[in-house]
Amino acid sequence: MDNSIKVVFPGTFDPITNGHMDIIKRADKIFDGVIVGVARNTGKTPLFSYEERLAITREAIEACRSLSGVKVYGIEGLLVDFAEEHGARVIIRGLRAVSDFEYELQMAFMNRDLNENIEIMYMMPYIKYSFLSSSIVRNVFLSGGRIEKFVPRVVIRHLEDKVKKLKGE
Ligand code: COA
Repeated sequence: MDNSIKVVFPGTFDPITNGHMDIIKRADKIFDGVIVGVARNTGKTPLFSYEERLAITREAIEACRSLSGVKVYGIEGLLVDFAEEHGARVIIRGLRAVSDFEYELQMAFMNRDLNENIEIMYMMPYIKYSFLSSSIVRNVFLSGGRIEKFVPRVVIRHLEDKVKKLKGE
């Protein structure tokens, strides 16, 4: 019997931040396999396309040597189906502040209703990332602020390219 526990860490990753990386590293230390799931449809209007978010997230993980076992795939349909297809029994979510709780509770109950066999677990990021979000990073960058401390290096290059493209350069 296979007793290994694989987990899925899902998100929009528009773009991936050091807060996400922190949770992935914590999960990787505990579980037997971590699969990062990049959601195609999230009800958001992302800056980066699904294909770009998938490629950037993969690049950020590949650039981190300690995460060599972590895989990145796209979620095309339901998260719980994605978890099952990849043999993961657990979904990991980051809880940054009390304000995350209500939304997470709503998603947890819906996911449990959709598939009772998948457990959802929460991890707290390092306190210095507890205020981080992808939209705050995008906002600071697009307003000319420095974001080196908050995102993997590859993300900055992609944000710069995106801005050039949007300006038609
Ligand atoms: N560090 C930094 N930021 C974090 C974070 C962390 N540890 N944890 C969450 N966040 C931020 C994200 O950056 C994001 O910020 P933004 O809103 O400014 O972009 C925000 O918290 C929440 O986003 P995310 O964690 O990406 O979740 P989401 O709400 O965008 O997407 C999915 C949630 C992908 C899990 C959900 O849409 C999903 O499951 N989709 C598949 C379809 C499905 O099954 N739907 C039914 C679900 S009940």
